[in-house]
Amino acid sequence: MKKILVTGGTGFIGSHTVVELQQEGYEVIIVDNFSNSSIDVLDNITRITGIKPAFEEFDLSDRIKTADFFRRNKDIEGIIHFAAFKAVGESMEKPIEYYQNNVVSLLNILENMKAYGIRDMVFSSSCTVYGQPDELPVTEQAPIKQAWSPYGNTKQMCEEILSFTTSALPIRTIALRYFNPIGAHESALIGELPLGVPNNLVPFITQTAIGLRKVLSVFGDDYNTPDGTAIRDYIHVVDIAKAHVVAIQRMIGEKGKSDLEIFNLGTGNGSSVLEVIQSFERVSGEKLNYQIKPRRPGDVEKVWADTRFANEELGWKAELGMDEMMASAWKWEKALASKK
Ligand code: UD1
Repeated sequence: MKKILVTGGTGFIGSHTVVELQQEGYEVIIVDNFSNSSIDVLDNITRITGIKPAFEEFDLSDRIKTADFFRRNKDIEGIIHFAAFKAVGESMEKPIEYYQNNVVSLLNILENMKAYGIRDMVFSSSCTVYGQPDELPVTEQAPIKQAWSPYGNTKQMCEEILSFTTSALPIRTIALRYFNPIGAHESALIGELPLGVPNNLVPFITQTAIGLRKVLSVFGDDYNTPDGTAIRDYIHVVDIAKAHVVAIQRMIGEKGKSDLEIFNLGTGNGSSVLEVIQSFERVSGEKLNYQIKPRRPGDVEKVWADTRFANEELGWKAELGMDEMMASAWKWEKALASKK
């Protein structure tokens, strides 16, 4: 059984990926420091798959602890590296923490891949590297725009580090640029667990509907879009998780065509904020309390993925639609509420 290290494996996308990996027969070891997740996730993964993943709690930006971990786990055959901070606004206030956590962790992992001859890694990147693209849908060849937040900058820097490192060393990487991952596992045992007030749209919607928040602010209705609200490519987290399994299989199966491959993970469909709200209301039967507010600084107007390269070359396609995303997010929110 191939052993895969999943860093950030108790987080939102990480936990869904661990489930898919286990269900495909991989042995998983998770490293996480619970900076934005909870220990209960381990039990909930086990409830879904029947297999308890191995787990170690430490911070991958700690060079000594990371080296010690790899010294004890020389049989790791591939790595999926999720562990990172991801809140755009927070990164403006805590730039050093963002560079320290996101960039140094990657370097520490690469150093040990080199030391122990671990060749394959899947890296979590983001459509944020495109900024506001000049052309839509955006392809992987679109120019990288100057980052406006330290968060976005860390993703750009990490991609650059991977580009030079994979050219120089026997290391291969697939960087997956996620658009907007939402939704939850159909079991409602794992999902997105924002600590504190959510920044992202969908957790804010479900928390408002369940009564944890009074009103959802819709940030701007004066964009150059059909209904005036901003457009994103929302994608089901389970589809994203499955893409990681395909990516790791591709590398282990020697199908990669270059040392660093980059793929967009989106559906190819853009939805406005109001369309997301309408889908939520339709599938939940709830009326959502929302108000139009000014634009949120730093938001782009519209972005959605050109998915052809991922569909054709990676051989993966998003399968679940907006209503399935909203239904699963709502089921998860209700499951959380029933535990309180
Ligand atoms: C951004 C980044 C993404 C990053 C993510 C991490 C872009 C294009 N995307 O996603 O790469 O991984 O942050 O957090 O830069 N909205 C509201 N009300 C709310 C919350 C959001 O109207 O309370 C709107 C936003 O203005 C936006 C849309 O909903 O138009 C989605 O917002 P959000 O879920 O925060 O994701 P992005 O900002 O697109």
